[in-house]
Amino acid sequence: GTAQIGVTGLAVMGRNLARNFARNGFTVAIHNRSYAKTASLVDDHGDEGTFVPSESVADFVASLERPRKVVIMVKAGAPTDAVIDELVPYLEEGDIVVDAGNAHFPDTIRRENALREKGLHFVGSGVSGGEEGALLGPSIMPGGTAKSYESLGPILEKISATVDGVPCCTYVGPDGAGHFVKMVHNGIEYADMQLIAEAYDLLKQGLGASAAEIGQIFAEWNTGDLESFLIEITADVLQHVDAETGAAFVDIVLDQAEQKGTGRWTVQNGLDLGVPITGIAEATFARALSGSVPQRKAAVGTLQAHAEPWDVTDRDAFIEDVRLALYASKVVAYSQGFDQIAAASEQFGWNIDRGAMARIWRGGCIIRARFLNRITEAYERDAQLPLLLADEYFTGAVGNGVQAWRRIVAGAALHGVPTPAFSSSLAYYDGVRAERLPAALIQAQRDFFGAHTYRRTDRDGTFHTEWSLDRSEQPA
Ligand code: 6PG
Repeated sequence: GTAQIGVTGLAVMGRNLARNFARNGFTVAIHNRSYAKTASLVDDHGDEGTFVPSESVADFVASLERPRKVVIMVKAGAPTDAVIDELVPYLEEGDIVVDAGNAHFPDTIRRENALREKGLHFVGSGVSGGEEGALLGPSIMPGGTAKSYESLGPILEKISATVDGVPCCTYVGPDGAGHFVKMVHNGIEYADMQLIAEAYDLLKQGLGASAAEIGQIFAEWNTGDLESFLIEITADVLQHVDAETGAAFVDIVLDQAEQKGTGRWTVQNGLDLGVPITGIAEATFARALSGSVPQRKAAVGTLQAHAEPWDVTDRDAFIEDVRLALYASKVVAYSQGFDQIAAASEQFGWNIDRGAMARIWRGGCIIRARFLNRITEAYERDAQLPLLLADEYFTGAVGNGVQAWRRIVAGAALHGVPTPAFSSSLAYYDGVRAERLPAALIQAQRDFFGAHTYRRTDRDGTFHTEWSLDRSEQPA
Protein backbone atom coordinates (compact mmCIF):
# COMPACT_ATOMS: atom_id res chain seq x y z
CA GLY A 1 0.00 0.00 0.00
CA THR A 2 0.98 3.61 -0.57
CA ALA A 3 -1.51 5.61 1.46
CA GLN A 4 -0.05 7.22 4.58
CA ILE A 5 -3.33 7.46 6.41
CA GLY A 6 -6.81 6.01 5.99
CA VAL A 7 -10.22 7.34 6.95
CA THR A 8 -13.28 5.12 7.29
CA GLY A 9 -16.67 6.71 7.89
CA LEU A 10 -17.20 9.50 5.40
CA ALA A 11 -20.10 11.46 6.85
CA VAL A 12 -19.34 15.15 7.09
CA MET A 13 -16.70 14.95 9.86
CA GLY A 14 -14.83 12.02 8.30
CA ARG A 15 -15.10 13.53 4.86
CA ASN A 16 -13.63 16.81 6.03
CA LEU A 17 -10.83 15.10 7.96
CA ALA A 18 -9.93 13.06 4.87
CA ARG A 19 -9.85 16.25 2.77
CA ASN A 20 -7.71 17.96 5.41
CA PHE A 21 -5.15 15.12 5.24
CA ALA A 22 -5.16 15.25 1.42
CA ARG A 23 -4.81 19.04 1.32
CA ASN A 24 -1.77 18.70 3.56
CA GLY A 25 -0.08 16.41 1.06
CA PHE A 26 -0.85 13.02 2.56
CA THR A 27 -2.06 10.16 0.36
CA VAL A 28 -5.38 9.23 1.96
CA ALA A 29 -7.08 5.85 1.76
CA ILE A 30 -10.83 6.33 2.04
CA HIS A 31 -13.64 3.93 2.83
CA ASN A 32 -17.28 4.08 3.78
CA ARG A 33 -19.92 1.45 4.49
CA SER A 34 -21.78 2.53 1.36
CA TYR A 35 -19.47 3.23 -1.57
CA ALA A 36 -21.57 6.15 -2.87
CA LYS A 37 -20.08 8.51 -0.24
CA THR A 38 -16.55 7.38 -1.09
CA ALA A 39 -17.15 7.95 -4.80
CA SER A 40 -18.70 11.36 -4.25
CA LEU A 41 -15.76 12.48 -2.12
CA VAL A 42 -13.43 11.67 -5.01
CA ASP A 43 -15.80 13.30 -7.53
CA ASP A 44 -16.26 16.47 -5.54
CA HIS A 45 -12.80 16.93 -4.03
CA GLY A 46 -10.43 14.61 -5.87
CA ASP A 47 -8.45 17.60 -7.09
CA GLU A 48 -7.51 18.61 -3.54
CA GLY A 49 -4.94 15.84 -3.18
CA THR A 50 -4.42 12.11 -3.54
CA PHE A 51 -7.26 9.85 -2.46
CA VAL A 52 -7.19 6.06 -2.75
CA PRO A 53 -10.82 4.90 -2.64
CA SER A 54 -11.75 1.33 -1.73
CA GLU A 55 -15.02 -0.50 -1.74
CA SER A 56 -14.06 -3.31 0.62
CA VAL A 57 -12.40 -3.19 4.01
CA ALA A 58 -9.78 -5.65 2.72
CA ASP A 59 -8.81 -3.33 -0.15
CA PHE A 60 -8.88 -0.32 2.13
CA VAL A 61 -6.45 -1.92 4.57
CA ALA A 62 -4.26 -3.19 1.72
CA SER A 63 -3.97 0.31 0.29
CA LEU A 64 -2.18 1.58 3.42
CA GLU A 65 1.58 1.62 4.02
CA ARG A 66 2.79 -0.05 7.20
CA PRO A 67 2.47 0.51 10.06
CA ARG A 68 -1.07 1.26 8.95
CA LYS A 69 -2.87 4.24 10.38
CA VAL A 70 -6.65 4.06 10.15
CA VAL A 71 -8.89 6.84 11.42
CA ILE A 72 -12.43 5.78 12.29
CA MET A 73 -15.00 8.56 12.19
CA VAL A 74 -18.38 6.99 12.91
CA LYS A 75 -21.04 7.38 15.59
CA ALA A 76 -19.85 6.68 19.12
CA GLY A 77 -20.99 3.43 20.71
CA ALA A 78 -22.00 0.26 18.85
CA PRO A 79 -21.18 1.60 15.34
CA THR A 80 -17.57 2.19 16.46
CA ASP A 81 -17.27 -1.36 17.83
CA ALA A 82 -18.73 -2.73 14.59
CA VAL A 83 -16.14 -0.93 12.46
CA ILE A 84 -13.28 -2.01 14.75
CA ASP A 85 -14.45 -5.63 14.51
CA GLU A 86 -14.50 -5.40 10.71
CA LEU A 87 -11.03 -3.87 10.50
CA VAL A 88 -9.09 -5.93 13.00
CA PRO A 89 -8.88 -9.21 11.04
CA TYR A 90 -7.00 -7.40 8.26
CA LEU A 91 -4.57 -5.53 10.50
CA GLU A 92 -1.10 -6.63 11.56
CA GLU A 93 1.08 -6.10 14.57
CA GLY A 94 2.06 -2.46 15.10
CA ASP A 95 -0.82 -1.01 13.07
CA ILE A 96 -2.63 1.97 14.58
CA VAL A 97 -6.39 2.39 14.84
CA VAL A 98 -7.56 5.90 15.69
CA ASP A 99 -11.08 6.53 16.96
CA ALA A 100 -11.72 10.21 16.24
CA GLY A 101 -15.37 10.19 17.33
CA ASN A 102 -16.80 11.43 20.62
CA ALA A 103 -16.38 8.08 22.41
CA HIS A 104 -17.03 7.77 26.12
CA PHE A 105 -13.58 7.23 27.69
CA PRO A 106 -14.42 3.95 29.50
CA ASP A 107 -15.22 2.49 26.04
CA THR A 108 -11.86 3.73 24.84
CA ILE A 109 -10.08 2.09 27.77
CA ARG A 110 -11.87 -1.19 26.98
CA ARG A 111 -11.06 -1.01 23.25
CA GLU A 112 -7.45 -0.09 23.87
CA ASN A 113 -7.08 -3.14 26.10
CA ALA A 114 -8.65 -5.45 23.57
CA LEU A 115 -6.53 -4.21 20.67
CA ARG A 116 -3.32 -4.14 22.68
CA GLU A 117 -3.77 -7.87 23.29
CA LYS A 118 -3.76 -8.30 19.52
CA GLY A 119 -0.54 -6.28 19.15
CA LEU A 120 -2.37 -3.27 17.74
CA HIS A 121 -2.29 0.36 18.89
CA PHE A 122 -5.68 1.87 19.64
CA VAL A 123 -5.73 5.64 19.87
CA GLY A 124 -8.87 7.26 21.23
CA SER A 125 -8.56 10.81 20.02
CA GLY A 126 -10.61 13.85 20.84
CA VAL A 127 -11.23 16.02 17.80
CA SER A 128 -12.89 19.37 18.30
CA GLY A 129 -13.92 22.15 15.98
CA GLY A 130 -17.00 20.87 14.24
CA GLU A 131 -17.19 20.48 10.48
CA GLU A 132 -15.13 23.50 9.69
CA GLY A 133 -12.42 22.55 12.17
CA ALA A 134 -12.16 19.07 10.70
CA LEU A 135 -11.51 20.59 7.29
CA LEU A 136 -9.37 23.60 8.14
CA GLY A 137 -7.63 22.50 11.33
CA PRO A 138 -9.19 21.03 14.46
CA SER A 139 -7.82 20.75 17.97
CA ILE A 140 -6.71 17.12 18.35
CA MET A 141 -6.36 15.23 21.65
CA PRO A 142 -4.89 11.76 21.00
CA GLY A 143 -4.52 9.13 23.71
CA GLY A 144 -3.19 5.56 23.39
CA THR A 145 0.45 4.54 23.55
CA ALA A 146 3.30 7.05 23.43
CA LYS A 147 4.85 4.73 20.82
CA SER A 148 1.90 5.21 18.46
CA TYR A 149 2.34 8.97 18.69
CA GLU A 150 5.87 8.73 17.25
CA SER A 151 4.52 7.96 13.79
CA LEU A 152 0.94 9.23 14.11
CA GLY A 153 1.70 12.49 15.91
CA PRO A 154 3.50 14.31 13.10
CA ILE A 155 0.59 13.58 10.71
CA LEU A 156 -2.01 14.83 13.18
CA GLU A 157 0.06 17.88 14.07
CA LYS A 158 0.26 18.74 10.38
CA ILE A 159 -3.53 18.84 9.96
CA SER A 160 -4.39 20.46 13.30
CA ALA A 161 -4.99 24.14 13.88
CA THR A 162 -1.93 26.17 14.83
CA VAL A 163 -1.58 29.21 17.08
CA ASP A 164 1.64 31.23 16.79
CA GLY A 165 3.04 28.34 14.75
CA VAL A 166 2.36 25.82 17.55
CA PRO A 167 0.10 22.88 16.63
CA CYS A 168 -3.13 22.38 18.56
CA CYS A 169 -2.32 18.71 18.95
CA THR A 170 -0.19 16.87 21.46
CA TYR A 171 0.02 13.44 23.03
CA VAL A 172 -2.41 13.49 25.95
CA GLY A 173 -1.70 10.21 27.76
CA PRO A 174 -2.39 6.45 27.76
CA ASP A 175 -5.58 4.64 26.72
CA GLY A 176 -8.66 6.80 27.46
CA ALA A 177 -6.81 10.05 28.30
CA GLY A 178 -7.50 11.71 24.94
CA HIS A 179 -11.22 11.06 24.98
CA PHE A 180 -11.37 12.02 28.65
CA VAL A 181 -9.83 15.40 27.93
CA LYS A 182 -12.20 15.88 24.99
CA MET A 183 -15.11 15.06 27.32
CA VAL A 184 -14.00 17.72 29.80
CA HIS A 185 -13.52 20.13 26.89
CA ASN A 186 -17.17 19.58 26.06
CA GLY A 187 -18.21 20.03 29.68
CA ILE A 188 -16.39 23.35 29.73
CA GLU A 189 -18.06 24.14 26.42
CA TYR A 190 -21.44 23.63 28.15
CA ALA A 191 -20.40 25.92 31.02
CA ASP A 192 -19.11 28.61 28.65
CA MET A 193 -22.33 28.49 26.64
CA GLN A 194 -24.55 28.65 29.73
CA LEU A 195 -22.57 31.58 31.17
CA ILE A 196 -22.88 33.44 27.90
CA ALA A 197 -26.60 32.70 27.82
CA GLU A 198 -27.00 34.02 31.37
CA ALA A 199 -25.03 37.17 30.48
CA TYR A 200 -27.34 37.66 27.51
CA ASP A 201 -30.40 37.22 29.73
CA LEU A 202 -29.04 39.66 32.34
CA LEU A 203 -28.41 42.29 29.66
CA LYS A 204 -31.83 41.65 28.18
CA GLN A 205 -33.68 41.93 31.46
CA GLY A 206 -31.50 44.57 33.08
CA LEU A 207 -31.33 46.93 30.11
CA GLY A 208 -34.40 45.91 28.19
CA ALA A 209 -32.00 45.71 25.26
CA SER A 210 -32.77 44.09 21.92
CA ALA A 211 -30.93 41.01 20.69
CA ALA A 212 -29.05 43.11 18.15
CA GLU A 213 -27.96 45.62 20.80
CA ILE A 214 -26.75 42.81 23.03
CA GLY A 215 -24.97 41.32 20.01
CA GLN A 216 -23.02 44.55 19.73
CA ILE A 217 -22.04 44.35 23.39
CA PHE A 218 -20.70 40.84 22.81
CA ALA A 219 -18.82 42.03 19.74
CA GLU A 220 -17.22 44.70 21.90
CA TRP A 221 -16.35 42.15 24.60
CA ASN A 222 -14.70 40.04 21.95
CA THR A 223 -11.96 42.64 21.63
CA GLY A 224 -10.83 42.12 25.26
CA ASP A 225 -10.09 39.41 27.84
CA LEU A 226 -13.19 37.47 26.81
CA GLU A 227 -12.09 37.13 23.18
CA SER A 228 -13.13 33.66 22.07
CA PHE A 229 -14.92 31.72 19.38
CA LEU A 230 -18.09 31.35 21.47
CA ILE A 231 -18.32 35.09 22.25
CA GLU A 232 -17.70 35.84 18.57
CA ILE A 233 -20.47 33.55 17.30
CA THR A 234 -22.79 34.84 20.04
CA ALA A 235 -22.38 38.38 18.69
CA ASP A 236 -23.11 37.04 15.23
CA VAL A 237 -26.14 34.93 16.24
CA LEU A 238 -27.69 37.76 18.27
CA GLN A 239 -27.49 40.13 15.32
CA HIS A 240 -29.00 37.63 12.91
CA VAL A 241 -32.54 38.38 11.73
CA ASP A 242 -35.04 35.66 10.87
CA ALA A 243 -35.76 35.89 7.17
CA GLU A 244 -39.32 34.70 7.50
CA THR A 245 -40.60 36.96 10.28
CA GLY A 246 -38.08 39.77 10.38
CA ALA A 247 -37.72 39.11 14.11
CA ALA A 248 -34.41 38.67 15.88
CA PHE A 249 -33.48 35.06 15.12
CA VAL A 250 -32.81 34.20 18.80
CA ASP A 251 -36.36 35.30 19.65
CA ILE A 252 -37.98 32.74 17.35
CA VAL A 253 -35.88 29.75 18.44
CA LEU A 254 -37.65 27.37 20.85
CA ASP A 255 -36.02 27.77 24.27
CA GLN A 256 -35.25 24.11 24.97
CA ALA A 257 -31.54 23.21 24.79
CA GLU A 258 -30.63 19.68 23.80
CA GLN A 259 -27.48 17.64 24.22
CA LYS A 260 -25.86 14.54 22.84
CA GLY A 261 -24.40 13.38 26.14
CA THR A 262 -20.82 14.55 26.59
CA GLY A 263 -21.85 17.15 29.19
CA ARG A 264 -23.79 14.51 31.07
CA TRP A 265 -20.76 12.18 31.02
CA THR A 266 -18.58 14.97 32.38
CA VAL A 267 -20.94 15.57 35.28
CA GLN A 268 -21.30 11.84 35.99
CA ASN A 269 -17.53 11.52 36.09
CA GLY A 270 -17.24 14.59 38.33
CA LEU A 271 -19.51 12.81 40.79
CA ASP A 272 -17.48 9.59 40.48
CA LEU A 273 -14.23 11.40 41.19
CA GLY A 274 -15.75 13.67 43.82
CA VAL A 275 -14.62 16.81 42.00
CA PRO A 276 -17.00 19.77 42.39
CA ILE A 277 -17.46 20.77 38.76
CA THR A 278 -20.45 22.89 39.70
CA GLY A 279 -20.27 25.22 36.70
CA ILE A 280 -20.46 22.31 34.26
CA ALA A 281 -23.16 20.58 36.32
CA GLU A 282 -25.34 23.70 36.52
CA ALA A 283 -24.91 24.23 32.79
CA THR A 284 -25.98 20.66 32.09
CA PHE A 285 -28.95 20.88 34.45
CA ALA A 286 -29.95 24.26 32.98
CA ARG A 287 -30.37 22.48 29.64
CA ALA A 288 -32.44 19.84 31.43
CA LEU A 289 -34.60 22.51 33.07
CA SER A 290 -35.18 24.19 29.73
CA GLY A 291 -36.45 20.87 28.40
CA SER A 292 -38.67 20.12 31.43
CA VAL A 293 -41.81 21.05 29.54
CA PRO A 294 -44.57 19.83 31.91
CA GLN A 295 -42.84 21.37 34.92
CA ARG A 296 -42.40 24.69 33.13
CA LYS A 297 -46.03 24.62 32.01
CA ALA A 298 -47.14 24.07 35.60
CA ALA A 299 -44.88 26.84 36.92
CA VAL A 300 -45.27 29.68 34.42
CA GLY A 301 -47.79 32.16 35.81
CA THR A 302 -48.25 30.02 38.90
CA LEU A 303 -45.10 30.41 40.98
CA GLN A 304 -44.92 33.75 42.73
CA ALA A 305 -41.95 35.97 41.96
CA HIS A 306 -42.28 38.91 44.35
CA ALA A 307 -39.52 40.54 42.33
CA GLU A 308 -39.45 43.98 40.80
CA PRO A 309 -38.29 44.32 37.21
CA TRP A 310 -34.63 45.26 36.95
CA ASP A 311 -34.46 48.94 36.25
CA VAL A 312 -30.80 49.64 35.58
CA THR A 313 -29.88 53.31 35.66
CA ASP A 314 -26.14 53.29 34.93
CA ARG A 315 -26.09 51.30 31.73
CA ASP A 316 -22.33 51.23 31.16
CA ALA A 317 -21.56 50.26 34.75
CA PHE A 318 -24.06 47.42 34.54
CA ILE A 319 -22.59 46.11 31.29
CA GLU A 320 -19.12 46.17 32.84
CA ASP A 321 -20.43 44.33 35.93
CA VAL A 322 -21.91 41.60 33.74
CA ARG A 323 -18.65 41.33 31.82
CA LEU A 324 -16.58 40.99 34.99
CA ALA A 325 -19.02 38.46 36.46
CA LEU A 326 -18.92 36.45 33.24
CA TYR A 327 -15.13 36.43 33.24
CA ALA A 328 -14.91 35.39 36.89
CA SER A 329 -17.50 32.63 36.47
CA LYS A 330 -15.68 31.40 33.41
CA VAL A 331 -12.40 31.12 35.31
CA VAL A 332 -14.23 29.08 37.96
CA ALA A 333 -15.59 26.67 35.32
CA TYR A 334 -12.12 26.16 33.83
CA SER A 335 -10.51 25.85 37.24
CA GLN A 336 -13.00 23.11 38.09
CA GLY A 337 -12.52 21.36 34.73
CA PHE A 338 -8.75 21.33 35.17
CA ASP A 339 -9.23 19.90 38.68
CA GLN A 340 -11.25 17.12 37.11
CA ILE A 341 -8.47 16.40 34.61
CA ALA A 342 -5.94 16.32 37.45
CA ALA A 343 -8.08 13.92 39.50
CA ALA A 344 -8.65 11.55 36.58
CA SER A 345 -5.00 11.73 35.59
CA GLU A 346 -4.11 10.65 39.11
CA GLN A 347 -6.76 7.92 39.27
CA PHE A 348 -5.95 6.39 35.88
CA GLY A 349 -2.18 7.08 35.89
CA TRP A 350 -2.36 9.25 32.77
CA ASN A 351 0.17 11.91 33.74
CA ILE A 352 -1.67 14.62 31.81
CA ASP A 353 0.10 17.96 31.38
CA ARG A 354 -2.67 20.49 32.03
CA GLY A 355 -0.73 23.41 30.59
CA ALA A 356 -0.37 21.48 27.35
CA MET A 357 -4.12 20.87 27.27
CA ALA A 358 -4.79 24.60 27.56
CA ARG A 359 -2.22 25.10 24.79
CA ILE A 360 -3.92 22.75 22.32
CA TRP A 361 -7.30 24.33 23.09
CA ARG A 362 -6.12 27.76 22.01
CA GLY A 363 -7.07 27.07 18.41
CA GLY A 364 -9.32 24.83 16.38
CA CYS A 365 -11.76 23.83 19.11
CA ILE A 366 -15.10 25.22 20.22
CA ILE A 367 -13.72 26.73 23.44
CA ARG A 368 -10.75 28.37 21.73
CA ALA A 369 -9.96 31.63 23.45
CA ARG A 370 -7.25 34.16 24.15
CA PHE A 371 -7.67 33.40 27.84
CA LEU A 372 -6.21 29.88 27.43
CA ASN A 373 -2.74 31.42 27.10
CA ARG A 374 -3.13 32.60 30.67
CA ILE A 375 -3.93 29.03 31.78
CA THR A 376 -0.90 27.61 29.99
CA GLU A 377 1.26 30.26 31.67
CA ALA A 378 -0.22 29.41 35.06
CA TYR A 379 0.76 25.74 34.67
CA GLU A 380 4.18 26.77 33.37
CA ARG A 381 4.69 28.68 36.60
CA ASP A 382 3.63 25.61 38.57
CA ALA A 383 2.84 22.30 36.86
CA GLN A 384 1.36 20.99 40.13
CA LEU A 385 -0.82 24.05 40.74
CA PRO A 386 -3.54 22.78 43.13
CA LEU A 387 -6.13 25.37 42.05
CA LEU A 388 -6.11 27.41 38.86
CA LEU A 389 -8.04 30.19 40.62
CA ALA A 390 -5.17 30.53 43.07
CA ASP A 391 -2.58 31.22 40.37
CA GLU A 392 -1.14 34.72 40.75
CA TYR A 393 -2.60 35.96 37.46
CA PHE A 394 -6.11 34.64 38.13
CA THR A 395 -6.28 35.76 41.77
CA GLY A 396 -5.80 39.27 40.39
CA ALA A 397 -8.01 38.96 37.33
CA VAL A 398 -10.90 37.43 39.28
CA GLY A 399 -10.30 39.50 42.40
CA ASN A 400 -10.81 42.71 40.39
CA GLY A 401 -14.26 41.54 39.44
CA VAL A 402 -15.51 40.08 42.71
CA GLN A 403 -17.59 43.07 43.74
CA ALA A 404 -19.19 43.29 40.32
CA TRP A 405 -19.84 39.54 40.48
CA ARG A 406 -21.60 39.93 43.85
CA ARG A 407 -23.72 42.82 42.57
CA ILE A 408 -24.81 40.80 39.56
CA VAL A 409 -25.63 37.60 41.47
CA ALA A 410 -27.44 39.56 44.19
CA GLY A 411 -29.30 41.61 41.60
CA ALA A 412 -30.28 38.49 39.69
CA ALA A 413 -31.71 36.98 42.87
CA LEU A 414 -33.58 40.20 43.80
CA HIS A 415 -35.06 40.64 40.37
CA GLY A 416 -35.81 37.00 39.65
CA VAL A 417 -33.39 36.36 36.80
CA PRO A 418 -32.19 32.74 36.84
CA THR A 419 -28.38 32.63 36.81
CA PRO A 420 -27.50 29.12 37.97
CA ALA A 421 -23.98 29.16 36.55
CA PHE A 422 -23.07 32.70 37.65
CA SER A 423 -24.50 32.07 41.12
CA SER A 424 -23.04 28.63 41.71
CA SER A 425 -19.64 29.80 40.49
CA LEU A 426 -19.64 32.60 43.03
CA ALA A 427 -20.77 30.14 45.71
CA TYR A 428 -17.87 27.86 44.75
CA TYR A 429 -15.46 30.80 44.92
CA ASP A 430 -16.67 31.74 48.38
CA GLY A 431 -16.74 28.11 49.45
CA VAL A 432 -13.25 27.22 48.34
CA ARG A 433 -11.75 30.36 49.91
CA ALA A 434 -13.62 29.98 53.23
CA GLU A 435 -11.38 29.38 56.21
CA ARG A 436 -14.08 27.35 57.88
CA LEU A 437 -17.02 25.59 56.23
CA PRO A 438 -20.27 24.37 57.79
CA ALA A 439 -19.19 20.88 56.72
CA ALA A 440 -18.21 20.57 60.39
CA LEU A 441 -21.91 20.56 61.27
CA ILE A 442 -22.62 17.90 58.66
CA GLN A 443 -19.97 15.67 60.19
CA ALA A 444 -21.51 16.26 63.63
CA GLN A 445 -24.97 15.36 62.33
CA ARG A 446 -23.65 12.23 60.65
CA ASP A 447 -22.04 11.16 63.88
CA PHE A 448 -25.25 11.90 65.78
CA PHE A 449 -27.62 9.81 63.72
CA GLY A 450 -25.32 7.16 62.30
CA ALA A 451 -22.16 7.01 64.40
CA HIS A 452 -20.27 7.91 61.25
CA THR A 453 -17.44 9.47 63.33
CA TYR A 454 -15.53 12.73 62.93
CA ARG A 455 -12.03 14.13 63.19
CA ARG A 456 -11.07 17.06 65.40
CA THR A 457 -9.32 20.30 64.56
CA ASP A 458 -7.04 20.10 67.60
CA ARG A 459 -5.62 16.57 67.50
CA ASP A 460 -5.29 13.50 65.30
CA GLY A 461 -7.59 10.50 65.38
CA THR A 462 -11.16 9.57 64.60
CA PHE A 463 -13.88 9.93 67.22
CA HIS A 464 -17.48 9.20 68.06
CA THR A 465 -19.65 10.90 70.66
CA GLU A 466 -22.12 8.74 72.57
CA TRP A 467 -25.01 11.04 71.68
CA SER A 468 -27.82 8.98 73.21
CA LEU A 469 -25.85 8.00 76.33
CA ASP A 470 -23.65 10.27 78.38
CA ARG A 471 -22.27 12.23 75.40
CA SER A 472 -18.76 11.15 76.20
CA GLU A 473 -16.28 11.05 73.34
CA GLN A 474 -14.74 7.74 72.33
CA PRO A 475 -11.84 7.11 69.97
CA ALA A 476 -13.36 5.30 66.98
C1 6PG B 1 -16.59 20.04 19.32
C2 6PG B 1 -17.99 19.94 19.82
C3 6PG B 1 -18.65 18.73 19.25
C4 6PG B 1 -20.16 18.79 19.31
C5 6PG B 1 -20.68 18.67 20.71
C6 6PG B 1 -22.09 19.22 20.83
O1 6PG B 1 -15.73 20.02 20.18
O2 6PG B 1 -16.37 20.14 18.12
O3 6PG B 1 -17.97 19.83 21.19
O4 6PG B 1 -18.10 17.63 19.86
O5 6PG B 1 -20.60 19.93 18.69
O6 6PG B 1 -20.69 17.32 21.02
O7 6PG B 1 -22.58 18.73 22.00
P1 6PG B 1 -24.09 18.69 22.38
O8 6PG B 1 -24.86 18.20 21.18
O9 6PG B 1 -24.12 17.74 23.51
O10 6PG B 1 -24.44 20.08 22.73
